[in-house]
Amino acid sequence: MVMATAAVERYSQTLFDNNPIFIKKNHFYEPQQHHHHGAVVAKQLIGDALRQRVENIDHELCEPGDEDTFFVGDLGEVYRQHMRWKKNLPRVKPFYAVKCNPDPKVLQLLAGLGTGFDCASKSEIEQVLNLGVDPSRIIYAQPCKTNSYVRYVATEGVKQMTFDNADELRKIAKLFPDAELFLRILTDDSSSLCRLSLKFGASLDSTNDLLALAKDLGLNVVGVSFHVGSGASDPLAFLKAVQDAETVFKQAYSHGFNLETLDVGGGFSGDTFEDMADVLREALDEYFPPHINIIAEPGRYYVSSAFTIACNIIARRTIENPATGETSYMTYINDGLYGNFSSIMFDHQHPIAKVLRSGNRTFYNTPLADGMPEAATAGMEYSIWGPTCDGIDRITESIRFNHELNVGDWLYFEDMGAYTKCSATKFNGFSDSHDVLYVCSEPGAKALMDL
Ligand SMILES: Cc1ncc(COP(=O)(O)O)c(C=O)c1O
Repeated sequence: MVMATAAVERYSQTLFDNNPIFIKKNHFYEPQQHHHHGAVVAKQLIGDALRQRVENIDHELCEPGDEDTFFVGDLGEVYRQHMRWKKNLPRVKPFYAVKCNPDPKVLQLLAGLGTGFDCASKSEIEQVLNLGVDPSRIIYAQPCKTNSYVRYVATEGVKQMTFDNADELRKIAKLFPDAELFLRILTDDSSSLCRLSLKFGASLDSTNDLLALAKDLGLNVVGVSFHVGSGASDPLAFLKAVQDAETVFKQAYSHGFNLETLDVGGGFSGDTFEDMADVLREALDEYFPPHINIIAEPGRYYVSSAFTIACNIIARRTIENPATGETSYMTYINDGLYGNFSSIMFDHQHPIAKVLRSGNRTFYNTPLADGMPEAATAGMEYSIWGPTCDGIDRITESIRFNHELNVGDWLYFEDMGAYTKCSATKFNGFSDSHDVLYVCSEPGAKALMDL
């Protein structure tokens, strides 16, 4: 066992020693040799960006901020997710949900790939319009909108928006009667991570009256939308929602509206995507003829796996257990629940710590980076805490590593692209804005980004 570990350590050392040097060009790290593309290249590019950054920090003498948390974002992963979307849901045009991660390079790439955008506020709409995206590629998908924002979108020509109640219809009739309206209906989101139907969505009992009111007010209803809940896990939620949407399309027809578009919302995740897509694709083909446009509002699916975060261990507390004689450690890192790990609180996530750097060795993407959660007595036990004063600010209750982790060492967490940075706060005076080092593991994405 000891020998096997030593062999892995030797292997991981050579792996990094033999890596090509990466040069920084406009914040992008470029390999000096050519590689085949895909996920393997992605790991190498991300590893090199992480390694170069942390190795260049002098932990003894650095200025405040130099050792701050940072992200590595792989635009190639966003590109791959887009290709996967097109393969599995060729009929469905994605409108990326900006709220999930309004990273400017992600938006630029998606604009280049031709997606639309789901925006929830004036500043999101402004950010997308500033990329030169046509207003017809934006949906203001917030059923309860701010008056002044409705006036703003009216002047900018962003016509598509959702509604789910009578008060909102009267607001729109007053402020933007030419808007193209999507009636958002309620879904069964009980098996999703973040339930949205507690707050939004018209029940099927109310859709008939809402359509009648829209007609009376002279408004233009063009579609139906729904959201099965973010982090959805039951593909049948899509089937039921598509069936309900068809009912509302028929109701709308009886009120004299000829609806053109169905918006199937978000709720897709990378690990269950194909299962969801299979059910959705078949439901759409069964209930909606080909002349009906289908759009969606995926957020998490596009960005979750594209971002890795690196965090520095700023403090450590040693705990001796007199009963067992075991020593464990509380480690404090420079990011937490009030920062980029807001996803633990708001998005019900469980980010998994891995060892990026311990002492003067880098372990990214090697077996030695991983914790040993299954071996209750192996290695050393750690809990991982954020930097604020609050006891709720705990990232990991218990994880075991082979390494003795010290102040100055680095941890990394993968799949940190969705609902992380965007909901960070400055609580306790910590920064809510951290560097992103971009890499690009797909030539197609590079071409679009002019790299
Ligand atoms: C209206 C709307 N559309 C799309 C999304 C994106 O959802 P997801 O990240 O699950 O794809 C959300 C998330 O809250 C939403 O509220």
